Order: sequence, then C-alpha cells, then structure tokens
Amino acid sequence: MMYDNNAAANVKAGIDKINFYTPNHYLNLVDLAKVRGVDPNKYLIGIGQSKMSVAALDQDIVAMAANAAEPMLSAEDRQQIGLLIVATESGIDQSKAAALFMQDLLKLTGNLRAIEIKEACYGATAGIQLACDYVRSHPGRKALVIASDIARYGLDTPGEVTQGAGAVAMLITSNPAILAIEPESIYESRSTGDFWRPNYSTVAFARGKFSEEIYVSMFEEVWGKAQRQGMANPETLQALLFHIPFSKMGRKGLRTLGNGKIAEADYTRLTERFERSIVYGKEVGNIYTGSIYLALLSLLENDESLKVGDRIGLYSYGSGSVAELYFGTLQPGYRQRLDAQAHRDLLDHRERLSMPEYEAMFSAQLVTDGSEQDLGRSDHSEAATHYLTGIKDHERQYR
Ligand code: HMG
Repeated sequence: MMYDNNAAANVKAGIDKINFYTPNHYLNLVDLAKVRGVDPNKYLIGIGQSKMSVAALDQDIVAMAANAAEPMLSAEDRQQIGLLIVATESGIDQSKAAALFMQDLLKLTGNLRAIEIKEACYGATAGIQLACDYVRSHPGRKALVIASDIARYGLDTPGEVTQGAGAVAMLITSNPAILAIEPESIYESRSTGDFWRPNYSTVAFARGKFSEEIYVSMFEEVWGKAQRQGMANPETLQALLFHIPFSKMGRKGLRTLGNGKIAEADYTRLTERFERSIVYGKEVGNIYTGSIYLALLSLLENDESLKVGDRIGLYSYGSGSVAELYFGTLQPGYRQRLDAQAHRDLLDHRERLSMPEYEAMFSAQLVTDGSEQDLGRSDHSEAATHYLTGIKDHERQYR
C-alpha cells in the first residue's frame, strides 16, 4: 500500500513544547582517556564525544524528569494534561510508575492516565506515538511525555565513555507549535541480545559491536521500507535525526546513505544538519531514550537555516530491539518555543569532576537493606527545583 501523506496530514498532533535537564556535574572525556591509558582522539573522534554528565544520587530519573518538565508547563497545561508518560530504562520501582511521582511533583490534576514505558532507548518514541494518538482522539486535551535515564556501563569498561544522564520533556498537543508528527511511520521489532540490564545489576551489559550492527541494519530496513512506500524521499527531507548513544553511532547510520545511495546534494544537506543535531549530545552523553529528542532540540536551537514547513525524519532505536522511522513538519512559531541560551547555560555552568570525584559519584549507591538514608543536595542551580532527599520506610522522598 502506498503512503498517502495528504490524508495523514489532515489529523494534526505533535510536539508543542520541549525542554531538557541534565545534572550539573560532568566528566571531561580527555581526563577519562588519560587515566584509562587511551588516546584521547579515540573518544573525541572515534566515539565522537567530548564530555558526559554524571548524576549524583539526588538526581534520579524522577527528579531529572520533573526538572525537565517544570519550567515549560503553564497553569493551563497542568489542567489539560490527560495522559502522562515517563519513558525510562532506569526505573526506580518495579510497581509504581515514575509518572505518578511526576503527577505529584508537577502539581498535575488527578484526571489523567499516568504510566511508565520501557523499551530501552525506544521507550520515549512509543510514548510520543501513543500520546499523538491520544490527542488525535481527545483534541482538547494534552499529553506529557518525559524521557529520563542514567546510562551506566561501569568503570573501565568499553561502554564507560558512552555514559550520560538527563531528561527531555515534551508536551504533545493537537495544535503543536514545534513539530507536527505524521501518523504513518515504519517500525520493526526483533528480539536481539545486543544490550540489556538484568534486575540484579546497576550497570548495563552490551555486546558493543553487535549492537552497532543491529542499529545500522534496522536503520537500513526501515529506511528501505519507507522509501518503497514513498515516505522517505530525500529531496523533501531537510534533516534526518538519529538515536545518539554517542555521535559516531548516528554518523554510521547516516553514512549508509552515502556513496551515491542518495543524491550528493541531499547527503550533504543531511550531513550538515546532522552536525547541528549532535552539539548537545556530545557534551551530555547517552541519555538513552531521550537521546534522539536531545538531538531534535540541538538541531532546532543550533541551526539558523531551517524554516517553517521543513520536513524532518527521526530514526529511533532501542536495543533489544525496536526501531521506528517517523516524520514531522516544523510549525509556525517553533523558534519562539525554544530557549537556546538557557540550554547553553545549563551545559556551561556544570561543575567539572576530577577522575576520583567521578569514580566516587559513580560508585555511590542508595541503600538496599531497608534502612533510612538522607542525601545531600548536589545541584543548587535554578534548573534543579526537584531532588531526591533520601529514603524513608522503603520509599523515595522528593522535594
Ligand atoms: P571499543 O571496542 O572500545 O571501541 O568500543 P573501538 O576500539 O571499536 O573504537 C571505537 C572507534 O574509535 C573505532 O571507529 C576506532 O577506529 C576509533 P569505528 O570503527 O567505530 O568507526 N578509534 C580512533 N579514532 C581516532 N583516533 C584514535 C582512535 N582509536 C580508535 N586514536 C563501543 C566502542 C561503542 C562498542 C563501546 O563504547 C560500547 O560498547 N558502547 C555501549 C554500546 C553502544 O552504545 N552501542 C550503540 C548501538 S546500540 C544503541 O544505540 C542502544 C543503546 O543506546 C541502549 C538502549 O537502547 O537503551 C546503547
């Protein structure tokens, strides 16, 4: 069946607001390279990352998610949100959804569905697609989707350089000011053992090279299908965003379109825009399910040449594995919704950790024996209005 873009475009839904938060500590990857005895260019060029955010215990995924969403919500939004989704693979509870903590911290009404979604780095995309369907059928209401994660592979592991922490919050409405998302997309699921985290482990396990192969192979699969269905004409695509666990990975996906696979002019344009999409991620690291949305924000806030009506493709990949390629169109007034200065400040005002400080912060753990714990506050910036204060009666306490 051929894709009918006009019919699909009749029902609008998409991203109306977007914001991100990352904790105020980072590790410079040259410092990491020196201590690990690695040529810094392996990290800076081979992996394509320069810094990574490190989360202290009080900035767990609930606190980070609330900090990402808080500044962008008006009183009216809070009344109108009828669906609240937190996407994460760093969940804090086996039972209660992180979204319920969010309802409380963000002072939302009780008249909403609050759920948590997990499928590795794909979770937020599942959330966005559900949210778009929700506002299409309830146009007077809004959905809040927050992607929040802490990527942990362990000290002195091959994945260590690809860690990071942060959250991206997106308000989905039927009258989106930023990106109208097309209802038709291409998706695919394959059960793979490329990356996973068993319940007993605080760090992920990855078959690194295999994970790269699956990422690329699923991109080729969904791109090929989208092309055959008339959905992915490179001439009409102004940018193509990728899930960015580290910038080289997205680059490898994009490179599959090189060597004459698509016209040179289109490849050059997509490559230039790709460079703008990795500006933030190179300094934050992998934030798992929020990574592609950090790439979207990075593109929109660092590219002066995009314009209203431009069509953007998004390749979302989550290990395990689910991939989806979908498309959206930039909406009038999208620039007014952005705050490049605030996001630049957030990144520039972080505190640089020494290697011993990073290792200590990485190794610190919440108690697991049922005892009580009080935490110090790690981030006193205006961006961190929410934080975990400790554990009492087996429950996390937030302020
Ligand atoms: P590694 O084995 O340490 O790296 O692990 P390498 O030796 O293959 O080197 C990496 C690159 O640096 C290579 O380039 C080298 O040539 C280059 P490539 O062949 O890849 O183009 N290099 C240099 N370049 C310049 N100067 C130098 C130099 N030395 C070497 N001196 C790996 C790398 C990514 C596998 C590891 O970090 C890892 O396991 N990371 C975690 C897994 C991961 O991120 N996988 C990505 C795909 S899966 C995914 O995206 C999902 C995920 O986000 C999870 C989720 O869905 O929840 C991970």
